[in-house]
Amino acid sequence: MSSYVITGASRGLGFEFLRQLSADPSNTVIGLVRGTAATETKVAELGRKNIHILKGDLTEYSSLKRAAEETAKITGGSLDYLIANAAFVSRWSAYDPIGVLGKDSSKLEEDLKETLNANVVGNVHLFNLFTPLILKGKVKKVISISTGLADYELLSKFEIEGGAPYSISKAALNAAVAHFSAQYAKDGVLFISISPGVVETGQHANATPEQLQKAMAMGGKFVAYAPHFTGPAQPESSVKDVISVYEKASVAAGDGGSFISHLGNKQWI
Ligand SMILES: NC(=O)c1ccc[n+]([C@@H]2O[C@H](COP(=O)([O-])OP(=O)(O)OC[C@H]3O[C@@H](n4cnc5c(N)ncnc54)[C@H](OP(=O)(O)O)[C@@H]3O)[C@@H](O)[C@H]2O)c1
Repeated sequence: MSSYVITGASRGLGFEFLRQLSADPSNTVIGLVRGTAATETKVAELGRKNIHILKGDLTEYSSLKRAAEETAKITGGSLDYLIANAAFVSRWSAYDPIGVLGKDSSKLEEDLKETLNANVVGNVHLFNLFTPLILKGKVKKVISISTGLADYELLSKFEIEGGAPYSISKAALNAAVAHFSAQYAKDGVLFISISPGVVETGQHANATPEQLQKAMAMGGKFVAYAPHFTGPAQPESSVKDVISVYEKASVAAGDGGSFISHLGNKQWI
């Protein structure tokens, strides 16, 4: 019987976390989303009474603060797990190398700021607002959903060029997670960054044929890195893997602040 807050629970991996974790009726599962009405409709189809949907936008501090207050009312003031899953993933910067993006310097600046604001600033506020509840919880785990694209050695070695603002934001978020761990590991709180692998969540649904070609080229680089890679995993298996990794991880085992994959190591695919 545990309590969970999951950000970005409207779709993709976030909705899958919500679905899997609420399958145990003794869990209390709170999903933070930008559009509550649409998610409430989706959640109603699951027919579960242990799911609560609250407004939570990473770019609106007041909405995160209200979500923390509402969460405390639902749980009685504590929280066992915070899963920081939400991310702004820019489509504009997803496909081209950074030097090509830089040809439109104002657009690149805007894209970088929007990405860093949501993925770094927003999550730092989220962690600060929810840590008081986590400190009162019995499990004390904060999981930041990262990406192998935050591994800068992987990027340079395999010449992975697309999505620079996104990878920069996730690498910065990993550093933020390490800072939270530096402060709170002594209180027994595990802060950890976990990459979910490559997962099909419709990210290329609106891509142009040219963008799809660039995505295929990126897939080729993934194969160069991991020759067993045959394509994206489904959210169900990725979320199962991530849950198994954070369940095994602990402050006592030295996992605080670490950045690992759904496989529990530094193999990203
Ligand atoms: N899929 C993959 O292959 C993959 C690989 C590596 C890492 N990841 C990471 O896994 C996580 C989930 O990925 P996904 O593929 O499920 O992504 P997704 O389908 O694009 O979903 C992103 C989620 O984040 C929410 N979101 C976006 N901006 C937000 C904001 N400003 N405030 C609050 N919520 C916001 C979205 O809400 P709306 O519905 O309101 O837009 C949505 O719920 C992300 O952290 C992503 O970086 C995914």
